[in-house]
Amino acid sequence: MRIFRATVLDTPDDPFTGGALRVDHDGGIAVEHDGIVCARGGFADVVRDYPDAEVVDLRPGLLLPGFVDTHVHLPQVRVIGALGMPLLDWLDKCALPEEARMADPAYARAVGAEILRGLVAAGTTSALVFGAHFRPAMEAFADAVHESGLRITTGLVVADRVLPESLLTTPQRAYDDAVALADAWADTGLRYAVTPRFSLSSSSELLDACGAVAYARPDVFVTSHVNENPVEVERVRELHGTDYVSTYEKYGLLGGSTVLAHNVHPSDDELRLLAARRTSVAHCPTSNSALGSGLFPLRRHRLAGVRVALGSDVGAGTGLSLLKEGLQAYFMQQLLGNQGEPLTAAHLLHLATAAGADALGLHQVGDLSVGKEFDAVWVSPRSDGVLAGALEHAKDAEDALAKVFALGTDADLGGVWIGGQVPLARHTLVP
Ligand code: GUN
Ligand code: ZN
Repeated sequence: MRIFRATVLDTPDDPFTGGALRVDHDGGIAVEHDGIVCARGGFADVVRDYPDAEVVDLRPGLLLPGFVDTHVHLPQVRVIGALGMPLLDWLDKCALPEEARMADPAYARAVGAEILRGLVAAGTTSALVFGAHFRPAMEAFADAVHESGLRITTGLVVADRVLPESLLTTPQRAYDDAVALADAWADTGLRYAVTPRFSLSSSSELLDACGAVAYARPDVFVTSHVNENPVEVERVRELHGTDYVSTYEKYGLLGGSTVLAHNVHPSDDELRLLAARRTSVAHCPTSNSALGSGLFPLRRHRLAGVRVALGSDVGAGTGLSLLKEGLQAYFMQQLLGNQGEPLTAAHLLHLATAAGADALGLHQVGDLSVGKEFDAVWVSPRSDGVLAGALEHAKDAEDALAKVFALGTDADLGGVWIGGQVPLARHTLVP
């Protein structure tokens, strides 16, 4: 038994529906050997109940739930930072040439190790990872995930048109590969996501094959892109003859275990359909900014009842930090003026943690309540940075949290736990 002593902040009650930030000043979280939180409260009270527990003193600083990234691309970690291109140019010139390199398993292994290290460094403990187009790359990634301890959902990306030849598959092969990987990963902790890249690179037959996998395996997730860029949206309509969301609906790909990235340009009908299917949207603020995709209509999603969480969308997104994504989400709602959703620090924390856990069906994480697994990140500002002084002078806990989103970087994270364990500790992931 260990007791983690810190000021603890989390959002078990959704701030978008009236919940407030939960704060334990000088709190104590008792964690069993199996990683489950068994008590929480003021440190003095918790230590009185468990006088023999080891105390992990995380003062000063803040303890938050581990971050949940609902959209991040495995093969794009080395192309972060390309500026000045809209989506389709960026895919052609930047992302897809890099993704073709994942055909080499040694290259894929190195990239997989890099992204897992990067996620942990950013305080991310769970992620829905958009995979690679090559099955050996995904098999190597699965091995690295098992060693890492991260909670990962991922799958082989499939496309059968528009993209460079080496990235294409066939509907039959897409079906067979997905079923084989989902079978191989069953009961390993790694969850499978059926992953058509986007409707623009999918024939009807390919989407149908993806729908068949989802139908045959009700336990799998589904992920793709939707309504990201106006030119893309128009081309999808020309190709499939419907709105973008309907291209997935038609093949049984929408449900409570589906996460679609972006949705910057939805119609009201599309929002209604996403809400009816309980499908989640991964909002990717730095990507939407870097590619000039547009300002995410968060308020329209909320009013329609669509579930929304945060994604880094690396490599169009500018890094793996969900602190940065949270801050950028806030900026973009400000820019929307009276159409925007005014966001507080509690909203940003919720989007980066509990909302992500909900989107990914990870009900055992997302906040630090009794009964949850202890997935946590310790914000421990570096002494030579501005954040340390800012936190000392924060008015209250919510103000401190806003400063963490405004100023915090990976260098300010002092520790990460997943199910009570330090990830990547047992193995170095250097290939
Ligand atoms: N749409 C299809 N593929 C991609 C991708 O890799 N990144 C983004 N942002 N959008 C996409
Ligand atoms: Zn993406």
